[in-house]
Amino acid sequence: MASKIAIIGTGYVGLTTGACLSHLGHSVVCADVVPEKVDALSRGEVPILEAGLDELVHEGLSSGQLRFVLGAENAVGDAEFVFLCVPTPQSDDGSADLSYIEAAAEQIGPHLQPETIVINKSTVPVGSTRVVERALGRGDVHVVSNPEFLREGSAVHDFLNPDRVVIGADDQSAAIRVAGMYLGLAAPLQVTDPASAEIIKYASNAFLATKISYVNAIAALCEAVGADVNDVVLGMGYDKRIGNAFLRPGPGWGGSCFPKDSRALVKIAEEAGYDFGLLRGVIDVNEEQFERVADKVRRLAGGDLSGKRIAAWGLTFKARTDDLRESPSLEILRRLRALGATVRAHDPAVRAAHADPRLEGIEVVDDPYAACEDAEVLVVLTEWDEFKWHDFDKVAGLMAGRRVLDARNLLERSALKRRGFEYEGIGRG
Ligand code: NAD
Ligand code: UGA
Repeated sequence: MASKIAIIGTGYVGLTTGACLSHLGHSVVCADVVPEKVDALSRGEVPILEAGLDELVHEGLSSGQLRFVLGAENAVGDAEFVFLCVPTPQSDDGSADLSYIEAAAEQIGPHLQPETIVINKSTVPVGSTRVVERALGRGDVHVVSNPEFLREGSAVHDFLNPDRVVIGADDQSAAIRVAGMYLGLAAPLQVTDPASAEIIKYASNAFLATKISYVNAIAALCEAVGADVNDVVLGMGYDKRIGNAFLRPGPGWGGSCFPKDSRALVKIAEEAGYDFGLLRGVIDVNEEQFERVADKVRRLAGGDLSGKRIAAWGLTFKARTDDLRESPSLEILRRLRALGATVRAHDPAVRAAHADPRLEGIEVVDDPYAACEDAEVLVVLTEWDEFKWHDFDKVAGLMAGRRVLDARNLLERSALKRRGFEYEGIGRG
């Protein structure tokens, strides 16, 4: 049955949710606070790189099922469901900052119809359902938790093909109404209490981060004993209990969620009286990984980076997204610059003209080969597929030294060695 839905916040989660729900036949109004964003989206211009999202936004705009408005209060007047998809960034003490959630709830409270269901889709700690209830200031509406598990870069696919839909509600009839919105999706549906739904979200992200830190630690061990982590991971992944997903060694995990969510879970545990030492270790291993990769570059460059030029391929936190938030690439390049290197970088999703304070001190070029001119070391930081197919004879001719640090184990090692490159990966020679 088609529902009337409002989405508050048109970022990666809100825009994907809005576009996908309109695709499923619902009538959707999306609100944001940034006028330029609302104007662009109303013209069908999608401000983020997300496969398939442009098509769904165009489809929704032309059918009239999807609209964009400025201001949360202007989206909710006749909504049966309101999704809160606003940021929950990290506070100074590591906990999740709920101020955007509270502000959005205060804004919409007076404009809601009785019996409207307000849904926390943002990642929020235990107790946030109550926080939203208080901020709404309404006793005649429901608040339900419905965490989102999409990945950037495959957000539309993940939303429409979820591994599960989790609904946390005290009121069973509210949970059933929310479940009705997802009837078009073939996914297991889990209805639970709000606290469990909130913990499912954090526990899932922290577990995935744990897998990656574990494999990065195994990669360090492989280097020490002369094993090849790619073979080790292949052998581990055949075991169905382990599986082969999220076992790719790399420069460390990043992005807008794993770093803040893992710290928030440590904090949630601390406040509940449990010292989550395991997860603190996972975070420490990740910080060490940034340091290890920077140190590998330093050693490849001969031990001293001062005045040396480094070429970097990859700035985003992973491939197939344009998102630079908490990118391990930037973390590592910051360390290289602190050691005296000058950095020229290329990323298929980041144009040279892109002005962003996070790129300060890095010369961004549109051409991958231009990044390599006079460089002592080329460091591959993001796993963009096209990096594999570049002309390494040309790269060799442009660089001052033929040295490659492949922090994603992406390139064909033997082909580089044949061309006279000194090659180093992660967890293998
Ligand atoms: P984002 O920063 O991309 O988007 C948030 C949007 O909300 C922005 O456009 C901002 O302008 C808007 N906004 C802020 N306050 C508002 C208000 N009062 N009214 C209307 N709009 C407002 O954030 P995101 O990456 O989409 O993440 C949102 C939430 O979803 C976070 O809690 C995050 O942890 C969670 N989450 C993110 C992902 C992901 O892959 N990015 C996946 C799952 C869950
Ligand atoms: C992650 C989760 O995968 C989503 O399920 C979740 O909804 C989302 O966080 C969120 O809560 O925001 P995302 O941040 O888009 O999604 O990125 P991932 O694909 O999970 O990658 C996170 C980081 O881990 C990246 O830096 C990536 O390069 C790294 N990674 C991932 C590895 O180093 N190795 C791997 O095997 C997998």
